[in-house]
Amino acid sequence: MPLVHMNDMLNHAYRHGYAVGAFAVVSLDFLEGIMDAAEESRSPVILNLTESHFDYYDFDLLAPAVLAAAKRAQVPVAVHLDHGKSPDSAERAIQAGCSGIMVDASHLPFDQNLQFTRQTAALAHACGVAVEGELGYVAGGKGENAEKHGGELAYTSPAEAKAFVDRTEVDCLAVSVGTVHGRMAGSVKLDFARLGKINETLAIPLVIHGGSGLADDQYRKLIAHGVAKINCYTALSDVAVKVIRENAATSGYMALNRGVRSAVRQEVERCIRLWGGSGRAAEVLAQCQVPKEVDHLILYDTPADLSDESLAVMVRRGKDKLRAIPGVRHIFPGKALQNEGRYQHCWLVRFTSQAVAEHYRSHPAYGEFFDKLLRPSAKDLAVFNFEERD
Ligand code: 13P
Repeated sequence: MPLVHMNDMLNHAYRHGYAVGAFAVVSLDFLEGIMDAAEESRSPVILNLTESHFDYYDFDLLAPAVLAAAKRAQVPVAVHLDHGKSPDSAERAIQAGCSGIMVDASHLPFDQNLQFTRQTAALAHACGVAVEGELGYVAGGKGENAEKHGGELAYTSPAEAKAFVDRTEVDCLAVSVGTVHGRMAGSVKLDFARLGKINETLAIPLVIHGGSGLADDQYRKLIAHGVAKINCYTALSDVAVKVIRENAATSGYMALNRGVRSAVRQEVERCIRLWGGSGRAAEVLAQCQVPKEVDHLILYDTPADLSDESLAVMVRRGKDKLRAIPGVRHIFPGKALQNEGRYQHCWLVRFTSQAVAEHYRSHPAYGEFFDKLLRPSAKDLAVFNFEERD
């Protein structure tokens, strides 16, 4: 149940002067450690699925586990595509049920970043999904030594940020003010004057990438200057690797990984405490929309002269058309088990949220499915939308 809209969660954090931790999930140990920490701290949390990690795990397998953890949680959870690189990955994440996506195009020139982010944001918003854009470039590789990429950082300009947010309509903005992805040997210098200006100009939740390894006071100042989401992976990776190294003398995969979940949990608890999320779960839940899936049910019969072959072609083509609609999660073309009476056939199409149910009719692929494929092959059509009862 507490899978919530990421925008509501971040707006609460922004208004109340704390930041929600967005922690990268790379395994079940990480997922369980992060969720243990959030539940124990009674804190909202964001579970990040980071596109650059998809070489390491299969998104289609891990995402359902992450969503299941979110739905059974007692605390508010947003599931977020981190560093989404293409419209395809955004659509895939929305289809999987993520409640937030990041559009990562900050390496592109301003106009191209703006155009790509605007298009993807429109698509995500039509599906009721929150959008994070990025302007300026936070260099570095997650989990690596940050020094490798020191010179690549580009700071966010407050004036450009205003134009970018106005035109893309992103809900929150990742800014570059000195942090770097990955592990840092020394301390980093953060440009708080720049961050303050950006915050004054935009007045929307700001996001920090490269959130591992800063000083406590730096986190406090970031939050005081409008940061409402802090991304973290390297710190979790480091505590997990330390445990695995300590287990190196043991044999067996499970023995080697024993203690990773608890190490991740301790590190996440430390971050949550430091970033101010502890004890906020109930007030956040009271203010968040919970996206509800909608089942779109079409019942029909076929004219006596429609051949089995024509019906099979309609079903195959219909599936292809429906798959093209963002926010369609599941498509079930069915036939009745009883072979008499009304409604021998159905389509059951699951939408990720009410927002999709409001828009699907205007999608050209739905028009082609319904008017050009289904209607000529059907009689006695009945169409319903259902949402799950509370
Ligand atoms: P760290 O590498 O500092 O943990 O940052 C992770 C991150 O920003 C993911 O988007």
